[in-house]
Amino acid sequence: MNFHVLTLFPEMILQGMNTSITGRAIARGLLSIEAVNIRDYAFNKHQKVDDYPYGGGAGMLMQAEPVYLAYESIAQRIGKKPRVVFLTPQGKVFNQSMAREMAQEEDLVFLCGHYEGIDERVLEEIVTDYVSIGDYVLTGGELPAMVMMDSISRMVPGVLNNQESGETESFAGNLLEYPQYSRPEEWHGKKVPDVLLSGHHANIEKWRREQSILRTARWRPDLLKNADLTNKEWNEVRQWKKQWKSEADRKDSES
Ligand code: ADE
Repeated sequence: MNFHVLTLFPEMILQGMNTSITGRAIARGLLSIEAVNIRDYAFNKHQKVDDYPYGGGAGMLMQAEPVYLAYESIAQRIGKKPRVVFLTPQGKVFNQSMAREMAQEEDLVFLCGHYEGIDERVLEEIVTDYVSIGDYVLTGGELPAMVMMDSISRMVPGVLNNQESGETESFAGNLLEYPQYSRPEEWHGKKVPDVLLSGHHANIEKWRREQSILRTARWRPDLLKNADLTNKEWNEVRQWKKQWKSEADRKDSES
């Protein structure tokens, strides 16, 4: 996977990505990352990349031409028109299945905006995907690009080793991950659940699946709708929900 980032802050991208698991994958040649400084393509005296918006309004806009030339330098080098992701709160909200799907690409370009946005005309010409990382506004696209690259990288074969493998973790099958415990067996008076110490693998698997479903029902009921549960499991979920509701009603009546 080759990531190319169009940005005004290349050092931010390189520092972030050259760390930890993504850093290791870059060193092993499984990923490559280049940060193209849009300012290097501003061919004016002060290397200016922004200007006032026509029609007035607050703030400055990034101009079309430097963004376009920076993009073209990448397209020419790799010899094709790549997929270009523009990070924007107006985009489709990023999720695990998008990460999985984008990990199939050989090259991905991320366009990071700043100021009040980017001239619409260059977006129309080069952007293939408008993506948001959530319903809040950040100061620029660099952090969202790094969030996306991090989760896409994990889906590239070989980036995670077996122990880190994404198989049984949150969002696999639209369920959250079960709780985990390590030594000591007791900490602050809290004991590790007996079943995990039993060595009985079938029971451990059963407990973990139940915990995954329980957590998802409690914290992310929106995900549960798309999870593949047996009839018995759906019945359990209904029982838990009834119980939670009566607990909440009781608390309400007490307060
Ligand atoms: N740029 C600013 N805020 C953003 C967000 N929430 N997602 C993606 N890009 C952004």
